[in-house]
Amino acid sequence: QALRFDYSHACEFIAQHDWDQLAAEVCRAHTQLHLGTGPGSEFRGWLDLPIQLCQPERERIRQAADKIRADSDVLIVIGIGGSYLGAKAALEMLGHHFNNRLPAGRRSGPEIYFVGNNVSSVYLVHLLELLEGKNVSLNVVSKSGTTMEPAIAFRLFRDWMVKKYGQEQARTRIYATTDRKKGALRQLADREGYASFVIPDDVGGRYSILTPVGLLPMAAGGIDIDELLQGAACARERFASPDLDQNPCYQYAAVRNLFYRQGKLIEILVSYEPRFRFFGEWWKQLFAESEGKGGKGLFPVAAEYSADLHSIGQYLQDGQRHLFETVLSVQKSEVDVTIADDPDNLDGLQYLAGKGMEYVRARVLRGAILAHTDGGVPNLLVEIPRMTAYHFGELIYFFEKACAISGYLLGVNPFDQPGVEAYKTNMFALLGRPGFEKRKAELEARIDG
Ligand code: PA5
Repeated sequence: QALRFDYSHACEFIAQHDWDQLAAEVCRAHTQLHLGTGPGSEFRGWLDLPIQLCQPERERIRQAADKIRADSDVLIVIGIGGSYLGAKAALEMLGHHFNNRLPAGRRSGPEIYFVGNNVSSVYLVHLLELLEGKNVSLNVVSKSGTTMEPAIAFRLFRDWMVKKYGQEQARTRIYATTDRKKGALRQLADREGYASFVIPDDVGGRYSILTPVGLLPMAAGGIDIDELLQGAACARERFASPDLDQNPCYQYAAVRNLFYRQGKLIEILVSYEPRFRFFGEWWKQLFAESEGKGGKGLFPVAAEYSADLHSIGQYLQDGQRHLFETVLSVQKSEVDVTIADDPDNLDGLQYLAGKGMEYVRARVLRGAILAHTDGGVPNLLVEIPRMTAYHFGELIYFFEKACAISGYLLGVNPFDQPGVEAYKTNMFALLGRPGFEKRKAELEARIDG
């Protein structure tokens, strides 16, 4: 059993001649990606990550994770964007919903918290309060080694660690994941002698989940990273065909491009599991940063059903027809809850007595797909058989490769993010970073009117 992509509910929106044309374009995009003739070709290292991470490196990751699990109540992961979303998505999806709140003996590892992904002092102060009396390790993750939000958080937590443990011992509890040679974090890690892990040059931030960026926090949280990489490796084989009719990953890329050309400019990734929330965040970053450029690109949104059926559900059924949905689902849950018998039936729910919550979920999912399709919103389904590390690995590879092909179909470089630099320039200027004086004066003149 493997990941399944089903676009049968979208077929009525797809003309055969458009599909045939796309088949040829997909074939070209495949060649660009695999032969490295497309834009951004220097960042295709993620294609082979599932089979490239050598045993010694896996062993180093496992050993570091074992040490963290043995000597820490809490692991703090410092990073932003691609440097944290994948790990958080995996831990949420594969771990216990309330892992951080379980007693130590029942957790699958340390409590894990993520910082450096916002500019909130309240968040930092509250987290520091939570750490009192606990043993802590830090994993600081930054490919460039210079991103401001994680760098500020690292200053703060490094200082906190040194005060708590002293210089020497603090060093043994800090793990740096960064570039092999470049950047401030690499210099710091080398100078301080932190255990460090490398993000390969040819892997960009949002494609880095299958490097130590994602694997170290996952392993510390008790996830079987071998199984996860095996799932990704099988997906790599399975999604290797250039033939659109044979390759579900390329079918997803093609269908979403077709919808985009039809003016459906928004893709909503929906799921019926709260534990998918951060997978949605990971997916959003992957597609938004890869495709949203040059005045082009689908706008990716993630929603959580059934909660959001009671908010955006109205719009989906009845609002502007410029969107489509991709439903992310797990075929079989590892647990079920039976709805209780109550002959009084005051709530009118007796027709469900004895049925499982999983039955309800499956029916709501099917019902919403049909209702939204009838309302003119095409629905796609990506389904994994079970919530396991193996299938998580499959999902990651499915979406990464679909994103790259989709970017090439759109005619953009799916591996750069020039737009993110604009806010950074303004931020550095307004914060007074040396070298940005002229821009600072311009911006301040605008702010002060
Ligand atoms: O995809 C990307 O490259 C970015 O979103 C980065 O992941 C993010 O900006 C963090 O960068 P860094 O790891 O260099 O701190």
